[in-house]
Amino acid sequence: MFPTGHLHYRGDMAVIAVVNQKGGVGKTTVALGLASAAAHAGLRVAVVDLDPQANATSGLAVWDAPSTIDDALAEDRSGAVLSVLVRSGWETPSVVPDVAASTPRLAQREPQLATDPVGAQDRLRIAMQGVDHDLVIIDCPPSLSLLTVNGLFAADRALVVTEPSAWASDGVEQVTRTIERISARRPQPLELAGIVVNRLGRTRDARYWHAQLVDTYADGVLGTISQRAAVAEASAQSLPVHGLGNRAGGAEAAAEFDALLASLRLDAGRGARSGQSEGREGVVTGG
Ligand SMILES: Nc1ncnc2c1ncn2[C@@H]1O[C@H](COP(=O)(O)OP(=O)(O)OP(=O)(O)O)[C@@H](O)[C@H]1O
Ligand SMILES: [Mg+2]
Repeated sequence: MFPTGHLHYRGDMAVIAVVNQKGGVGKTTVALGLASAAAHAGLRVAVVDLDPQANATSGLAVWDAPSTIDDALAEDRSGAVLSVLVRSGWETPSVVPDVAASTPRLAQREPQLATDPVGAQDRLRIAMQGVDHDLVIIDCPPSLSLLTVNGLFAADRALVVTEPSAWASDGVEQVTRTIERISARRPQPLELAGIVVNRLGRTRDARYWHAQLVDTYADGVLGTISQRAAVAEASAQSLPVHGLGNRAGGAEAAAEFDALLASLRLDAGRGARSGQSEGREGVVTGG
């Protein structure tokens, strides 16, 4: 899928914010699964953990980062993220992901940012200048707060994660509306990368709500990730999902994240991607 010599991605970095205001739907799991798939494909990945719960940080086996995304956001300085990136503790084959780690202190940063008279919605975008990884994944907190708004201003695409549970479409609609509002306030549009249905189980209920989402969003539903013990274990043990060895379900889970990464079409270049998003626009807003 991706060549290991990945230099041609330089200058065409993709920045993807993983969002949903609903808690526990699998944003962090999808962010980490994509980071694992990309790193195993030889891409230079950075994960920006924008959630004070710091689940992505611990999932990437980072425990004592000397500085964090909180420090980077405090400064209002171009390139501040570069000085807080640390190497993840994952043992991936060729390239190890970098992490802008989070900390519970980030929760106090948010009300402080809100008092910035100039407006602080693009602090992260400014702070990320100079980051040149092939793929940057921003794991957002479970709210449509100023932190998430910062994630969406810094990204070029938003990936919405949902579960196939009751009224999932309503929650997705709320977040896509926020994505559109933010897009309208940016010089470049914010693309909706699509919707990932996570924790797809074999129950009739799950199948019903999945079908509802496909009905509403059609091609906007990028892919699914099944409910699997192996997926939960990978994050609990701070391992990449591709590094589970022959743990039952590990290979299948890894294959789903590989397919999800492929569906993001990082190799298609920006022109092709914006064409693709135009095709989807009606679907996404028309639901
Ligand atoms: N596909 C899956 N299979 C099994 N367990 C999963 C799957 N996806 C997520 N989980 C588990 O569900 C819980 C919530 O997932 P996760 O932390 O990724 O959600 P989140 O949306 O990031 O939560 P928050 O809103 O709190 O940030 C975790 O314990 C995770 O391991
Ligand atoms: Mg999370």
